[in-house]
Amino acid sequence: MSMLMPHLDEAKKRTKKEVKIKKYEIPENLKTLGTCKTYYVKTYGCQMNVHDSENIKAILEEMGFNEALDMESADLILLNTCAIRENAHNKVFGMIGRLKHMKEERPNIITGVCGCMAQEEVVVNEILDKYSFLDIVFGTHNIHELPEILNKAMHKNKIEVDVYSYEGDIIEDMPAKRDSKYKAFVNIMYGCDKFCTYCIVPYTRGKQRSRRFGDIIREVKSLKDNGYKEVTLLGQNVNAYGKDLNLEYDMSDLLEEAAKTGIDRVRFVTSHPWDFTDKMIEVISKYSNIMPYIHLPLQSGSDKILKLMGRRYTKESYLELFNKIKKTVPNASITTDIIVGFPGETEEDFEDTLDVVNTCKYDSAFTFIFSPREGTPAAKMKDDTPLKVKEERLHRLNELVNKYAREANEKYLGKVVPVLLENVSEKDGSMLAGYTDTMKLVNVKAPKEMLGKIVNVKITDVKTWSMDAEIA
Ligand code: SAH
Ligand code: SF4
Ligand code: F3S
Repeated sequence: MSMLMPHLDEAKKRTKKEVKIKKYEIPENLKTLGTCKTYYVKTYGCQMNVHDSENIKAILEEMGFNEALDMESADLILLNTCAIRENAHNKVFGMIGRLKHMKEERPNIITGVCGCMAQEEVVVNEILDKYSFLDIVFGTHNIHELPEILNKAMHKNKIEVDVYSYEGDIIEDMPAKRDSKYKAFVNIMYGCDKFCTYCIVPYTRGKQRSRRFGDIIREVKSLKDNGYKEVTLLGQNVNAYGKDLNLEYDMSDLLEEAAKTGIDRVRFVTSHPWDFTDKMIEVISKYSNIMPYIHLPLQSGSDKILKLMGRRYTKESYLELFNKIKKTVPNASITTDIIVGFPGETEEDFEDTLDVVNTCKYDSAFTFIFSPREGTPAAKMKDDTPLKVKEERLHRLNELVNKYAREANEKYLGKVVPVLLENVSEKDGSMLAGYTDTMKLVNVKAPKEMLGKIVNVKITDVKTWSMDAEIA
């Protein structure tokens, strides 16, 4: 039986070994493996995972599978998982429990787990121990091997585990079945070498590997040629783009070149404050098709906690960067991520965080209670703050975040702004939904023919998390 298990110690290693660039190719004999069968992929986690699922779906379709309408009717069910916090874990294990029932009722279905949880030694051990009814487990490094993995699994009746714990390669030419016809994710780098002490990502995604400049720009151009209006350049630390390549270009050059393709909208996530250069800020302000929206995770406003987190900036240097961005790109909306209840966080440390929120008045923020992740340094730190206190801090923080989010939206009332209409509105089927340049969700009274267009709308009503508008 072939079994490739993840190993935490291997996942931690970083070497100077050169990154290999491989080309995806599906073996001819596996192109009919899925004929007359359907698949369902359920995605958890960040945009990186959403885009991985787009690759997975396209690979399955190359094998002859068709997308099922729902999980209950699918012949193949894959959970593309996220490991970032305990509740992400729990959700997935709950779903694996449901899969077990489905497998009892329909023994011929194929079930599998992939993504970041599959990269965790503890998770795969638990799966082998309690959920070995699953057919396949594969990781973030070998999505391109899915045809072979499925082939193996379909010819045996034992769980097939294929997870590599290594620094990782770059796989080019993977197909993608994109969720949208108008906006697309473009990976510019994989992995992460920052090793923030609380974070599991460097262990689940391997080392930082930048894609080649030309490959990225070619993808952006081809998306534009295919009618796409917007690209989002993706990476855990996009500002560090190119640093692992030792070449003369960096993220500001990449942004500039992406803007010069002439595509209507260029976005990028996530910007770590650590590598945010002045040149980048200038490029953002110079090109009208680089969207004035910056996600700038703070995590904490306390220098003591930031140090324990390994974030390598201080409250002061963060605020300096924030002000520089606001000065050079005055219309920029800035959002953030904040963790409360990190080990050792006192009331005073937490108030430093509130202080930064009061200063920055973020357009919005994702807020989390610290969740210890097995294998990370922070999981071993002494943590004596009761959960009740952490919950109370989260509540206070959210009140403040919501207040500023609403205030930021209120400035839009009566204004005319461009919106890319991308969907029928979830709350009202007669409306279309889309985002402003600044990433504000807007529901617009507009006919379906306007889908895929960037139109000027007049904001007629604002709420905390969305706005209503009519065509201007
Ligand atoms: N690369 C991005 C973050 C990606 S993870 C960056 O460095 O900013 C998304 C967010 O999840 C993080 O910004 C952080 O706020 C949160 N997060 C990560 N690990 C966490 C943990 N162990 N507990 C709670 N929140 C966590
Ligand atoms: Fe995690 Fe830090 Fe890397 Fe972001 S920069 S993915 S928080 S280790
Ligand atoms: Fe989750 Fe992995 Fe993204 S842990 S947040 S899916 S990189």
